[in-house]
Amino acid sequence: MTELHLLSGTGTTAAAAAADALVVGVLPARADDGDDGAPRLAAGAAAVDAAFDGELASLLALAGATGRAEEIVRIPTRGTVTAPLVVAVGLGPDGDGGPSAEQLRRASGSAARALAGTDHAVTTLSWPDADALAATAEGTLLGAYTFTEYRSTRGRTPVRRVTLATEAEEVAGVLHRATVVATAVTTARDLVNTPPNDLFPETFAARAAALGEAAGLEVEVLDDAALAAGGYGGILGVGGGSSRKPRLVRLRWSGGPSPRASVALVGKGVTFDTGGISIKPAAHMDHMTSDMAGAAAVVATTVLAARLGLPLTVTATVPMAENMPSATAYRPGDVLRMYGGRTVEVLNTDAEGRLILADAIVRAMEDEPDYLIETATLTGAQLVALGLRTSAVMGSEVFRDRVAALARAAGEDAWSMPFPDHIRGELDSRVADIANVTGHRNGGMLAAGIFLREFVPDGLPWAHIDIAGPAFHTAGPYGYTTKGGTGVPVRTLAAVLADIAENG
Ligand code: BES
Ligand code: ZN
Ligand code: MN
Repeated sequence: MTELHLLSGTGTTAAAAAADALVVGVLPARADDGDDGAPRLAAGAAAVDAAFDGELASLLALAGATGRAEEIVRIPTRGTVTAPLVVAVGLGPDGDGGPSAEQLRRASGSAARALAGTDHAVTTLSWPDADALAATAEGTLLGAYTFTEYRSTRGRTPVRRVTLATEAEEVAGVLHRATVVATAVTTARDLVNTPPNDLFPETFAARAAALGEAAGLEVEVLDDAALAAGGYGGILGVGGGSSRKPRLVRLRWSGGPSPRASVALVGKGVTFDTGGISIKPAAHMDHMTSDMAGAAAVVATTVLAARLGLPLTVTATVPMAENMPSATAYRPGDVLRMYGGRTVEVLNTDAEGRLILADAIVRAMEDEPDYLIETATLTGAQLVALGLRTSAVMGSEVFRDRVAALARAAGEDAWSMPFPDHIRGELDSRVADIANVTGHRNGGMLAAGIFLREFVPDGLPWAHIDIAGPAFHTAGPYGYTTKGGTGVPVRTLAAVLADIAENG
């Protein structure tokens, strides 16, 4: 990961810093400015601009800068400042309060990508306060992320070191938190990006256990024999078609001497989803390497809770299975006896996530947590409803809306979704307590959430986050979002835990 350093305190001058590049932010001209329509410099660029005799904005405009988001313009400095190069990054239109944290985070990510191959850069985007610093640190670390494990030849290496210039003092704690958050996102991305021939239930469980042990968590792994002994019919049903046998991983952060509340995290860990006997079409089936993104996020977040010493008991319950068609696979028409004894008629083996999650939720409830947050790449219907960048939040209404608002504030877009009453009846089964799908596609994301609700105790604050689109990014990079695993919803989970730790 890119090294971050601080240049902090009043009188800080990025202009004098020895580095290979100096990053400044650029904002578009405002219609009401009445000037020549030239872009404006962001707050931290003042000292750099002074070294350019106040002409930095017009020089950048001459070089093509407009201030739109994602824009990168480079100009040589010829001795005006110590660094030989200014890298100007567009922030996009700002409001009256200046650029938002997410604008700074994205611009920092774009700048970090543009700085690939650079040894040391100084950024002025972290000016002036702690919020700007946190956003800049996160954006820089996430934008610089690469996954090169499987490349024989490495391309340009990520920027090695970035110094964050800020007027704010005593910000080491802010930088520490941002680094821990970015590290957790990176952990989740690495797990998602590891291909399914190497990351399958046994190896995923081993990696989760190793991460947990390194962070001082309590770790428990149930293998297929233990799952059979425990009666985990959902996990065993889904995992039965694969030669790679399923697992259930439990990680616990105790919350230190006086935890304020206990939070159960559950994440879908389907290491590859072929659909099983209800097999998927070939097109884009490779995306199903990301079907364990929810699991990756909850593992990384539980480690984060320990690293930050959050005063909460956080317990992750993570079911892991590979959904394959084979002579031992479960079939449409099977009835599974789930953990806890309820029965489910399987009408479609591709609706597997909800089956392993139901077992995990029932297990997690034995701890009697105060909150349940569960996340999954659960339905294609999520992409149809909200697109590729907005997660769907369902669950108990007050907590659902709280989680969605915290997600948006953290820069992970999310929107609340309803549970219409009539859909439950559409899950009625001919033979069992419930069926795993309705007979049609309408409201498919909501039907999956309503299926899970069956396993959640009434009255428990519960959020179900469907991340089918946002967890995996296949288009070109933007801001701090790189190709492949995005790490969504780690920053949401981190924000929700911090909020519960502070406000209960
Ligand atoms: N893992 C998929 C959902 C998914 C789709 C994730 C696209 C990421 C991108 C899930 O297991 C699935 O197959 N869901 C089915 C449910 C259907 C059979 C009711 C779907 O969405 O088609
Ligand atoms: Zn799936
Ligand atoms: Mn599926």
